[in-house]
Amino acid sequence: MTDASDYLPGSRRLPDLRTAVQQCRGCDLYQDATQAVFGEGPQDAKLLFVGEQPGDAEDREGEPFVGPAGRLLDRALRDCGIDREQVYVTNAVKHFRFTRPERGKQRLHKKPSRGQILACRPWLLAELGGTDPDVVVFLGATAAQSVLGTGFKVTERRGQVVDLPEELVHRPMHAVATVHPSSVLRAPDRDAAYTAFTADLRVVGDLVT
Ligand code: URA
Ligand code: SF4
Repeated sequence: MTDASDYLPGSRRLPDLRTAVQQCRGCDLYQDATQAVFGEGPQDAKLLFVGEQPGDAEDREGEPFVGPAGRLLDRALRDCGIDREQVYVTNAVKHFRFTRPERGKQRLHKKPSRGQILACRPWLLAELGGTDPDVVVFLGATAAQSVLGTGFKVTERRGQVVDLPEELVHRPMHAVATVHPSSVLRAPDRDAAYTAFTADLRVVGDLVT
């Protein structure tokens, strides 16, 4: 299986990775997307958040979490006293996967396949190498399972502090998994879902203060 590793530069500097990702052909998702969306935030961020993949707005703007899910995330971070400026945000998959039900119609998000998630994983691991977070926060199952494997169940483990596997990181790092902000937006009881989401984020906040 091909993956992104052939397209990674030797350097782990974020600006070099961000430039190189635009040339990635590690899976088929580069074909229909506008551009790759790399992570954003300070290199020395104490918190690194991982989402699933760019959405429609992110695909157009070239930045992660700038659409509706990003606005919910911003609000949740604010409510938990976490400074978004101090957070590095990225995604498990760097290109937008979508379907277009009819020609000219709105693009609909489609979940990335396991093969696409694994193909893109070298970029995410490279970002972990190019930053130095104390805590990695997985937003949803795609992000958590990209790094921790499909045995990791977010529904059972959300809000718990786990250690990232030693072989993946250059120093010990904690991780906390929670749901994806889009799932809060879709939840039948949005208030309850938001409260549970922010409860998980408070666990994260307590680890770095
Ligand atoms: N959803 C994600 O997982 N990531 C984004 O960047 C935007 C929406
Ligand atoms: Fe490369 Fe990831 Fe884009 Fe696939 S989704 S082409 S692996 S950057």
